[in-house]
Amino acid sequence: MTYRTRHCGEFEASQIGEEVDASGWTARLRDHGGLVFIDLRDRSGVVQLVIDPEHAPKAIEVAQSIRVESVIHARGKVVARTDGTVNPNLPTGAIEILVDELDELAPSDPLPFQLDDENVDEALRIRHRALDLRRDEMQKNLKIRSQVTRIIRDHLEAQGFLELETPILTKSTPEGARDFVVPARLHPGSVYALPQSPQLFKQLYMMAGLERYYQIARCFRDEAQRADRQLEFTQLDLEMSFVERDEILDLAEDLYCRIWKEVLDIELPRPFPKMPHSEAILRFGSDKPDLRYGLEISDISELVRDSGFSVFKGAVESGGCVRALACPGGAGLSRKDLDELAEFAKEWGGKGLAYLLLDESGEVRSPIAKFLSEDELSGIRAATGANPGDAIFLAADTETVVVRVLGALRPHLAERFELADPNAWAMLFVVDFPLFGYNEDEQRWVAEHHMFTAPRAEDEDRIESDPGSVLSEAYDMVINGSEIASGSIRINRPELQERVFRTVGFSDEEAEERFGFLLRALHYGAPPHGGIAPGIDRTIMLLAGTDSIRDVIAFPKIAGGFDPLTDAPSPAADEQWRDLGLPIPPKPKSKDTEEQT
Ligand code: AMO
Ligand code: AMP
Repeated sequence: MTYRTRHCGEFEASQIGEEVDASGWTARLRDHGGLVFIDLRDRSGVVQLVIDPEHAPKAIEVAQSIRVESVIHARGKVVARTDGTVNPNLPTGAIEILVDELDELAPSDPLPFQLDDENVDEALRIRHRALDLRRDEMQKNLKIRSQVTRIIRDHLEAQGFLELETPILTKSTPEGARDFVVPARLHPGSVYALPQSPQLFKQLYMMAGLERYYQIARCFRDEAQRADRQLEFTQLDLEMSFVERDEILDLAEDLYCRIWKEVLDIELPRPFPKMPHSEAILRFGSDKPDLRYGLEISDISELVRDSGFSVFKGAVESGGCVRALACPGGAGLSRKDLDELAEFAKEWGGKGLAYLLLDESGEVRSPIAKFLSEDELSGIRAATGANPGDAIFLAADTETVVVRVLGALRPHLAERFELADPNAWAMLFVVDFPLFGYNEDEQRWVAEHHMFTAPRAEDEDRIESDPGSVLSEAYDMVINGSEIASGSIRINRPELQERVFRTVGFSDEEAEERFGFLLRALHYGAPPHGGIAPGIDRTIMLLAGTDSIRDVIAFPKIAGGFDPLTDAPSPAADEQWRDLGLPIPPKPKSKDTEEQT
């Protein structure tokens, strides 16, 4: 049998009069008093079939017995639609196929949900993912995914990158999350770890002289899932030898400009700005600032050092700071709104949120205005650039808390006042990250990016004496306030790597035990090297315009790491535990009663 002459979406007026075959899914069925119309759909689009009882009595019987989403084949003639039935919104809208023969290739049961119903429970959709993925939106998203990986391969192959694989059953490659582990049957008590990223292997490729590596790599991280985080996700992982930072950033910028051009036909504004981490924190309270809107933060500590408002004065006196931002149009906020914002600040660890409302006349309304001098008020207005009609929000506390509160307030206000142009793209590189951050809970220094990131050469001698002051060769690419890629220049000398291991608290024995394979390789000549890893899923989210990572992953997990499609994770058989030399655990509770994270 000839299934199809063309794909459904490709039939066209030049074929009028031709006998054709068409196959696909029954997207819609309409019975118009005898005449039956079917929208026949495949990946390429839709074509209309018309079945006329006079013309094809057998076909009408088939048409009247099938259900939507059944797979069918039709044979018939391409005809012009009559005036008034032409559909200009459909690529095939000028024609239809007048059916002679119709066969059902595979029937569909009644559907568990209507494909175009927007209120279907996501778990139910994923449970029937083969059905759910037929939706236009999901088809579009998966096509973008494929298009993006094709562009990546094109782009990098042309520049001498080799696409190389790295192991999945391996040893821990720490990126700050918990490892997924696989018990090793042949070594009871031992485990393989699934890679959190191919980090160490790509570095070994550089040490092996492969020069330029990339991989569309699956990464596994046992961490809480969020709207932009999955337990397994995909990176474009790449690494280059004999490079400096800007060569890597230029390559990432070129690639992203090409992707935006080819997928969205958008020319991104270039060059992407490079902003030091310290500046991003000071001006935007975030290491991934959304630059589509202002709401810039100003430090007003000096202005209010001797203020009559004790909260401000006290914060500065005890070594903290006072920072403020002006929100356009904020003077119109109600008392209730302002109370909610103060609550919001408290959720982020603040003690409150002071505000000044500037009337159209320029008058200041605020419960704290009476404590502030004219000079302080005008100084604050000037520093924040506030205009009549705006609100100024002020936070006083330790620097950490102020940054956290205002950093969270900024996107919150932007959303409330719709300040971000939905058509704008604000790309930037955040550079000069600190090498270490202090983990208060664990009371130790930890690597801010990862332990293999090089310090800036000029800061190297302070690794032991003042770790907090050491800046690194790490960078992030940020798009519209979302961290899309991270990378760094790596350490390429063993003694420097050992110093970093010691600073984050590894004894030499521990370092050897965990990373001996890296140290061994570093001892035989490692080229200067570095790389970057953009998250593919997050990139597709931006291109597809969705807020949920599950919309760009064909087979995602939902809350609690559960997969409603396969019911994974599922209990292991007693035999499997025995094989692994592990005790048989108590039977798990049912899925519904399990904690959902
Ligand atoms: P990092 O851990 O910052 O760096 O990850 C790089 C990028 O991967 C994406 N990403 C995720 N996407 C979805 N779900 C997750 N759970 C998730 N975690 C990370 C983000 C992020 O920017 N080896 C280093 C890179 C390097 O140094 O070259 C690394 O993995 O878009
Ligand atoms: P209070 O003196 O606690 O009644 O607070 C007066 C105003 O200052 C209220 O609007 C509080 O939300 C705000 N406020 C209190 N503590 C802080 C703080 N640390 N930073 C900014 N505003 C604060």
